[in-house]
Amino acid sequence: MAEHVDPYLSTEQIAVEVARMGGEIRDRFDGDQPLVLICVLKGSIVFFADLLRQLHVPTHVAFLGVASYEGTHSTGAVRLTHDLGMDIGGRDCIIVEDIVDTGLTMSYLLENLKSRRPRTLRVCTLLHKPEREQVKVPMDFVGFTIDDHFVVGYGLDYEQRYRDLDHIGVLRFTD
Ligand code: IMP
Repeated sequence: MAEHVDPYLSTEQIAVEVARMGGEIRDRFDGDQPLVLICVLKGSIVFFADLLRQLHVPTHVAFLGVASYEGTHSTGAVRLTHDLGMDIGGRDCIIVEDIVDTGLTMSYLLENLKSRRPRTLRVCTLLHKPEREQVKVPMDFVGFTIDDHFVVGYGLDYEQRYRDLDHIGVLRFTD
């Protein structure tokens, strides 16, 4: 089966939205310790790096690896593949995700991270696909609400490919 990518969100659209989100996070930040920005590997890496540079508040970065997806279908089972490597007890934290789809990954992350007793724990996602929601998760900062498409680029992959695209496209399969 042949596959191709149709343009969906341009580099410019994404940049405008990321700057807006950075401003929103900055306005809500009131802690006296650096904000802990948690990058959910691997799909969020590009968004994370851009968002970090739009914040202009003191930050510490941390990385969390999770796996749940095979191909274009969620397996439903979420597991940790890499842990934070820092204590977030008493800290103001933001989970930075590329996309909230079924919500299973985010709900797992929230439960896991809340048990470590951060002072605050907020959720920031570039994309939200409400049609596919299986679990409701609180989202504090959302970039784009999108229809039920499988999207790639700007860090998001299909079988580890397309992360390097500077825009976001919809993956299509043809015979
Ligand atoms: P959820 O657990 O179903 O909400 O899915 C979360 C994870 O699935 C995301 O962090 C992505 O890694 C992956 N994912 C969900 N939808 C897409 C998509 O459209 N393109 C690429 N990856 C996706």
